[in-house]
Amino acid sequence: MSRKPIFAANWKMNKGASETEDFVKSFLSKQQGLNLPAEIVIAPPFVSLPKLADLLHDSNPGQNAHAIQIAAQNCSQYDSGAYTGEISVLMLREFFVHYVIIGHSERRAIYGETDATINAKIRKAREANLKPIFCIGETLAEREGGMLETVLRTQVTDGLKDVSEKDLSDIVIAYEPVWAIGTGVTATSEQAQEAHAFVRSLIADLYGSDSAAKIRIQYGGSVKPNNAAELMACPDIDGALIGGAALDPQSFLEIIRNGTAE
Ligand code: PGA
Repeated sequence: MSRKPIFAANWKMNKGASETEDFVKSFLSKQQGLNLPAEIVIAPPFVSLPKLADLLHDSNPGQNAHAIQIAAQNCSQYDSGAYTGEISVLMLREFFVHYVIIGHSERRAIYGETDATINAKIRKAREANLKPIFCIGETLAEREGGMLETVLRTQVTDGLKDVSEKDLSDIVIAYEPVWAIGTGVTATSEQAQEAHAFVRSLIADLYGSDSAAKIRIQYGGSVKPNNAAELMACPDIDGALIGGAALDPQSFLEIIRNGTAE
């Protein structure tokens, strides 16, 4: 089963419109002619989406621009109405957004998102034909307390409740151990592979082995140019969700290049 790796830059609360423009121009000029065997995704803050859409879809037809997909970092589980500060999936569609990160550990820990909220957002995203990048992962205390499999099982089962097999085929899972995010501590390739294989087995239990073989599972948590190759060589790792190291175009490109090198 060959799964196309997917490398997504999660910029978090970094880069307004002008920094977005600087990054994209630099990235496109470096990427030109490389034809990397991967899907490349950028998730900027909401306010930078119009600029990104403009740069990638209108003004640069010749520059490999269409090879890059746009993601949002979050979406509302509601359609419209009195939800101050929220952004709906249909609003995102207006800016050529194809992917949406849902359930990032920062959303879970800082904004109290539960598995039920995350499930509602995943289903709402699919209604608008957006592709969720569904984040899961355990804390250090959970791992050290022997809870890794229980935590992942609950997150996967509850997060995907009532999601059809067809919709699952447009979902990417991002396994991100919370203790590895932004800390400089990466899971070893053995730890990452073990967790990814377990997540794939959960998908097999829920949806069957065909869906499990097809679903892409990204690794996230302190991915850098110098550890990308080893992580991406693991059989169940299909790309990366990258925070800090994707803020610089050269570093993001090196991760993709090293992570896809044969
Ligand atoms: P990091 O973030 O690469 O800075 O660890 C990853 C993420 O939060 O998705």
